[in-house]
Amino acid sequence: MKPATVHDLDAARARTLALVAALSDPQLTAQHSPLMSPIVWDVAHIAHFEELWLLRELGGAAPTDPRFDDVYDAFRHPRAERPDLDILDPEHAAAFAASVRARVLAAPQTAAIADFTAALLADDFVYSMVVRHEHQHVETMLATIQLMATGHPADAGDGPGRAAITGDLDGEVLVPAGPFVMGTDTDVAAYDNERPAHAVDLPAFFIDRTPTTNGEYLRFIEAGGYEDPGLWSAAGWAWRRTADLRHPEFWHETDDGWSRTRFGRAEPVPPAEPVQHIGWYEADAYARWAGKRLPSEAEWEKAASWNPGRGIGEKRTWPWGTDGPESPPAALWGTTARWGPDAVGAYPDGASAGGVLDLIGGVWEWTASDFHPYPGFRSFPYPEYSEVFFGSEYKVLRGGSWATSPQAISTTFRNWDHPIRRQIFSGVRCARDA
Ligand code: AVJ
Ligand code: FE
Repeated sequence: MKPATVHDLDAARARTLALVAALSDPQLTAQHSPLMSPIVWDVAHIAHFEELWLLRELGGAAPTDPRFDDVYDAFRHPRAERPDLDILDPEHAAAFAASVRARVLAAPQTAAIADFTAALLADDFVYSMVVRHEHQHVETMLATIQLMATGHPADAGDGPGRAAITGDLDGEVLVPAGPFVMGTDTDVAAYDNERPAHAVDLPAFFIDRTPTTNGEYLRFIEAGGYEDPGLWSAAGWAWRRTADLRHPEFWHETDDGWSRTRFGRAEPVPPAEPVQHIGWYEADAYARWAGKRLPSEAEWEKAASWNPGRGIGEKRTWPWGTDGPESPPAALWGTTARWGPDAVGAYPDGASAGGVLDLIGGVWEWTASDFHPYPGFRSFPYPEYSEVFFGSEYKVLRGGSWATSPQAISTTFRNWDHPIRRQIFSGVRCARDA
């Protein structure tokens, strides 16, 4: 195994342990919301995934326990039913994760290998898949912790955060008409749903320079945005009424104005941060109120990756260029020290070629698009990552949040969720026709 791979595996595990080590057994085993797993399930699921791909698929090892194929299969068991499964307790889950990792690091390199194994190993794809899987579950566990009433012991909280240091934040950026290449054939870590690369021709459009801030979203609330059915899609308005929504999740109105609970602490809503914890229906209604609309995911990706003046195929893996996540503008995320996003516009070095800011990190951005395969899609290496979710039940989110690892995001990465979901670190950026 390459030293870089060992480093990436270690870094993902350090992130997991930093999160779970400080939690009590009741915090680890309780189900804090039917939308989420008990955190101890995520821990053993991470280990099971790693064992499955790196020891069983690659090395032909026997499973630690054949029953784990059932209980830790996310697709067979929706989150709501996971507390009722016969799962490992915190001590055994941690031991399972440690034992799998020790065996992975000690495993000999596979000699004679089958075609499927060769495809898994090509460019170390399977290792990045396992590393990214662990990082994705760290973000999931952070969303679970946000739902816990008690907060997290390692969250020192209330760091001031970085202020916006860019002048023109209110503006929009014009993305001219023309084709660009969507998706990738060259990013070796890319998932099946990001492939194949294909040209998409788009009319000109405007996209907001930054995501919508809490301050802007507050104006929507105060203008009666949650009371005006004309601003909502039919499904959105039905849901807004059933769920009696009046503001983003975790917000509450006090005598002193709007406050929010973040990791167990109540604090005034900071106006310059991007709004978080809104569902797709709210994002859609907000955009309509603003006289705009959500960008399609093709528009989002063109704004993030297309490099005017270069060939249409020369796109950027990150908005600021092709240098990887270790390069300085990647400070865009690294904000887990304050467990939340910085003010919009705090990272001018992270701008795209056209000057769009905060595309990576900050908050996940809802797009107008349903989660569909690209033309020529082929499932790899297993259909339960992407294929089983294709369809109109899911909307695509782009860009990653402050809780997303730099190892797990790029301008082609596609996330998806149900339009009613709000416990994720989701926000909105508007667009409009030019
Ligand atoms: C890509 C974030 C939608 O969490 O359901 C984790 C990632 N896939 N384990 C999810 C994933 C398998 C996935 N999302
Ligand atoms: Fe998983």
